[in-house]
Amino acid sequence: MESILAHTHSGIRWILILMFIFVLIKNHNNPAEDPRKKIDWPLYTLILFSLQIIMGLILYFMSHNVSFEPGFMKDARLRFFTIEHLTGMIIAFVVMLTGYIKSRRTIMSRWNKIIKTYYLIAFLIILLSIPWPFRGFGTPWF
Ligand code: HEM
Repeated sequence: MESILAHTHSGIRWILILMFIFVLIKNHNNPAEDPRKKIDWPLYTLILFSLQIIMGLILYFMSHNVSFEPGFMKDARLRFFTIEHLTGMIIAFVVMLTGYIKSRRTIMSRWNKIIKTYYLIAFLIILLSIPWPFRGFGTPWF
């Protein structure tokens, strides 16, 4: 079960990365102002990110990489999954959510700028918080 969930969690990262790149390069219409063109990519990205967080929180209680045993902070892998991965992703989520809420309360001409600024910051935090294989935690690319 843990392995299926970890694989799904790992694969979804790539869909999220593609969605972030798309949100960052595309100019978006503000769905609040023009409901006829309602393809709200920033919202879909936020929703998929929320699902990833829920999956991550379930994994948090199942994973052998999460531990509160004495001395776990001295082990880079345990420290990463127990503290750093979780904290980084929650900060990224708060930044995204703030950007999305702000963007809905602004005039059309500033919509893109707000979304892009907040989503870019969140994206960079996410990239830094992903357990990439080259970080030596024994996690795969997919
Ligand atoms: C609060 C949010 C999150 C929590 C609590 C969380 C928790 C975890 C845990 C406990 C693991 C270790 C799984 C294992 O031992 O097999 C893990 C692995 C991983 N997480 Fe997260 N995660 C979160 C969000 C995210 C997000 C948003 C992404 C990507 C955008 C992500 C990408 C990954 C990847 C790539 C792995 C490696 C999976 C593997 O070993 O196959 N996580 N996460």
